[in-house]
Amino acid sequence: MSTNLDPGAVGAPRPRIEGPLKVTGVARYAADVPMPDLAHGWLVTAPISRGRIRDIDASTALGMPGVLGVLDHRNAPRLNPRAGNYFGPDGSMQLLQDDVIPYAGRPVALAVAETPEQARAAAAALRVTYDVEPHDLDFSLEHPAARPASTAFGPEADTGDVDAELSASAVVVDERYRTPEESHSALEPHAATVWWDGGQVYAVDANQGAFSVAEVLAALWSIDRERVHIRAEHVGGGFGGKGACGPQVILGSMASARFGRPVRVVLTRAQVFEATASRPPTDQLVRIGADADGRLRAIHHRPAYALSPLAEYIEWCTEQAKILYSASAIRTQLTAVPLDILPPASMRGPGATPGSFALESAIDEVAERLDIDPLELRLRNQPTVGPVSGLPFSSRRLVSCLREGARRFGWATRDRRPRGRREGPLLIGTGMATTSFGAGVFPSTASITAEADGTFTVSVGASDIGTGARTVLTAVAADALGVGTELVRIRIGDSDLGMAWGAGGSRGTTSWSFAITEAARKLRENLGDPARPVTATVDTTTMIDYRPGRERQTYSAVFAEVTVDPSTGEVRVRRLLGMFAVGRVINPLLARSQVIGGMIMGLSMALHEENVRDPRTGRQTNGDFAGYHVAAHADVPDVEADFVPDYEPQDPSGFNGLGEIGTAGTAAAIANAVWHATGTRQRILPIRLDRVLEPADPGTPDAA
Ligand code: MOS
Repeated sequence: MSTNLDPGAVGAPRPRIEGPLKVTGVARYAADVPMPDLAHGWLVTAPISRGRIRDIDASTALGMPGVLGVLDHRNAPRLNPRAGNYFGPDGSMQLLQDDVIPYAGRPVALAVAETPEQARAAAAALRVTYDVEPHDLDFSLEHPAARPASTAFGPEADTGDVDAELSASAVVVDERYRTPEESHSALEPHAATVWWDGGQVYAVDANQGAFSVAEVLAALWSIDRERVHIRAEHVGGGFGGKGACGPQVILGSMASARFGRPVRVVLTRAQVFEATASRPPTDQLVRIGADADGRLRAIHHRPAYALSPLAEYIEWCTEQAKILYSASAIRTQLTAVPLDILPPASMRGPGATPGSFALESAIDEVAERLDIDPLELRLRNQPTVGPVSGLPFSSRRLVSCLREGARRFGWATRDRRPRGRREGPLLIGTGMATTSFGAGVFPSTASITAEADGTFTVSVGASDIGTGARTVLTAVAADALGVGTELVRIRIGDSDLGMAWGAGGSRGTTSWSFAITEAARKLRENLGDPARPVTATVDTTTMIDYRPGRERQTYSAVFAEVTVDPSTGEVRVRRLLGMFAVGRVINPLLARSQVIGGMIMGLSMALHEENVRDPRTGRQTNGDFAGYHVAAHADVPDVEADFVPDYEPQDPSGFNGLGEIGTAGTAAAIANAVWHATGTRQRILPIRLDRVLEPADPGTPDAA
């Protein structure tokens, strides 16, 4: 065994291993890989939200220079209709299988040519006509087709008697909150380079989990998983939008099969907006009752979200109502509303982010009506066991986050009356919110080879979507092996490396680290034999204890200071501070970077992001980065993020989740600060200028 030259790699702030490759342009993304004999596919998408294809006239396109052909529902290879996502069949993957248009942006054809420009020209020359049917995009909690959401993520809460507790409450908040449809907006558009060879399909694809993409693509083609090889070495962001087997790799595999050549499919930015999934809109009722001393009696959270009849989906907005506060009665009712849209996807703290906007805004309203400091109100209602489950908490360092965040932010000097601070024409306000995000571990495999030269090769099907997974897993492996990081070589982003969870659900690092740690333990047991190389492989499927023994979560407290110009409606976030409890921090540099990124996404949700659709066509009218504003440098203030000391006892190394907890909570903190600045509640996101703008006399009480 080599000497440990670099003890304690876990906990050290290391820059990303692949950073130099990325800044010098050496790192290859899915659309960059060199490939001989490459052809290019260009999507054609439906401009209507519901109906049928009447005709596709490809005669002009087929005669154009460089055109190899056009794939559509009449000539495309047949796919297995039972293939799908985690929940079952997913009709959004059944591309070019029939003439039905179930949502705007549905791919209806792929033009394939020698160059991307020729493919684009051919796509533009296709004449597609439609029989349009009336669509339904009229989202609300009261929609006649609304139905209870799947409880696959956990049962609804129904403890105590909510109505009796509300009747006995000194104050009751009963309000409605709405969040819009939003798009993930990763910088790298969805892209894949795909080829077949000897009955096997190979792809370099932009995704968040190469193994699960390989499983789904194998199911679509009805072939063994071992015949599908997906690589995703460098991925330019995902935020949940690259979790699935995307249209780029499905269409690319069809075109490559049909034309017998490698095919590259790169979505345009507009196509990423319309042909890949979004976060669904939500419409949420929250009722909270409290005693005069601030003790919560009842929490009733009733959110609805939109989905598609093509696939099951859960926007789990109700998790926090079951975790954050103790109350005599807690009830959750999650409602799904099927509409003519592409099935939604997890985005940037799915469920928790829109859900906590509603819940944490309502808690702030309780504090307002009781005239209690909102920090104090939260401290008074901390549960000692799971408020609904009754289970003990695993590590719960939420109070530490609240107290330390308040100290650093200077919360104690805040005057809680609204509209009390001015600087010239600007109103100044501060607000806070807290939240939790479920954490845990999923099955993964890992292999470690002790090489003849004394180095170690670690292979795990992890994905690095910009988070620094390579770097943190190298540190985890080095410590588990008891060697320096310079002796560890890591291979990730390849479905051939074995079954692994993807980069999602804040559970990637815990899942991969568990497998690596166990593989290292096994390898060290075998290293008595001096013969090298020797490999240890571990599959954690049977090692994970799934019994729901403890509430395992990550936590945050987020504090915001805003300025509001009531004459223009402009809200600027001046300061943002987050304290997080995420278990043991593996790499403080990357962890801080990730939660700061998450807080910026929360800021962006609070103030900017919103898919806008034309009600006549159902198409998104702002599906590009000119119309869909994501927070840019000029929008982002002084952001500070740090971690309270934490150690997750359910993890062999003390790790917990990190990622989504950065986003959830931030929008409510900002909305609460806007209330503090102006005295007006913002219950609809984003907090647009027109929602904040006040009439010339700012003293008018019902200004809105
Ligand atoms: Mo994440 S939104 O679970 O990829």
